[in-house]
Amino acid sequence: MTAAPPPPTEGSSSPLARGEYAALDECTYLNQASLGLVPRTSIQAMSTFLHDVGQHGNVHLSDQDETQVLDGVRTAAAELLDAPQTSIAVLGGASEAIGQVAAVLAADLTEDAPEVVLVTTDFPSVTYPWLAAADRTFAAVAPVLRWVEDEPATDLTEQLVAAIGDRTAVVCVSAVQYSTGTAVDMEAVAAAAHAVGARVVADVTQLAGAAPVSMRTSGVDAMVCSGYKWLSAHGGVALAALSEELSVTVPPVIGWMGVDDPFDFDATQLRLAEGARRYELSTMSYASAVGLQQSLDMLNGIGMHTLAEHSRGLAYELMDLVVPAGWRPFRPLSDVAASHHIVSLRHPNAPGSKVQAALAKEHGVFTSSRAGGIRVSLHGYNTARDLRVLAEALTTLSR
Ligand SMILES: Cc1ncc(COP(=O)(O)O)c(C=O)c1O
Repeated sequence: MTAAPPPPTEGSSSPLARGEYAALDECTYLNQASLGLVPRTSIQAMSTFLHDVGQHGNVHLSDQDETQVLDGVRTAAAELLDAPQTSIAVLGGASEAIGQVAAVLAADLTEDAPEVVLVTTDFPSVTYPWLAAADRTFAAVAPVLRWVEDEPATDLTEQLVAAIGDRTAVVCVSAVQYSTGTAVDMEAVAAAAHAVGARVVADVTQLAGAAPVSMRTSGVDAMVCSGYKWLSAHGGVALAALSEELSVTVPPVIGWMGVDDPFDFDATQLRLAEGARRYELSTMSYASAVGLQQSLDMLNGIGMHTLAEHSRGLAYELMDLVVPAGWRPFRPLSDVAASHHIVSLRHPNAPGSKVQAALAKEHGVFTSSRAGGIRVSLHGYNTARDLRVLAEALTTLSR
């Protein structure tokens, strides 16, 4: 006779199976926005691939196989980002992707339209290429940077739209701000930018894999997404989805994998691949890409609406637990600009960095300290029990 399964415990349900993540047996992990946990199934797929190819090389992977090794990632990425498969490039990192796109767009800046709209507290890889463009020959004219602030009293989308004018060439912004969780309405930004002929680059690293994303409906010109956060992969792989216009441009950096048939080896002719694949450079970390494919299949299977609904429920539950102890979110959860999978908590008497360190050391609760707050990530494996552990620790530490 098989033993009956234990009754469901209050607060233990989660759309992502907790058994997939070793850390969850050891601690309370609320940090997917930093180093995201990778499911066991994806690690298994990576290690099988590594064993096959690392130990056996071309015995188990022919040249022909190698040209197809990223096909499954492209298909899964197209579903995740609601983008045509030909628009997808699989790259080594979000920084690589955004750097390439920024270099293309910088070459198009003109004296009449030199402005690039950026957020002062955005993730640095979103802004650094534009700071560098001022000193490099790839910029046709030096970009004029128009900085917008992410402040709780204002709507960041409105600030971005207000900064767009006749002289704007590019808006380059994260769709969800990594430190505060502020969400940008990319559709509204793209509409305002396109009305003046400007392009929009959206970094969706802190959105895709946690909530729905659509290249199609947002209308942005480029999306980039790192793999090792909400996409639940290991470092060394990222996605880009590029507009048709960007996909027919000659990328600023060309690698041998960006051509139609890399194993043709005709060093005298450059036959760039059709579509965004031309931005792919090298023999990349295929093991990371194989893990990403497995994780994307898992996330797509569960669905972004389910994951977003789960984190929304947790975020409201968290407020009920921590507000009585004096903790406040960067933005009220009811604010349209608040995301629910990244909640930044602040307390007047408890400095973020000290509390974050004590949470980890004394309470086994892993969060990040960003922009003076405790950044709490709420992913599909988190449960109400995780929130109670966090809330008890925060209450103790802010007393
Ligand atoms: C919004 C955003 N973009 C990009 C990155 C970094 O991506 P990568 O390491 O792939 O360049 C991060 C890392 O925190 C991030 O939050």
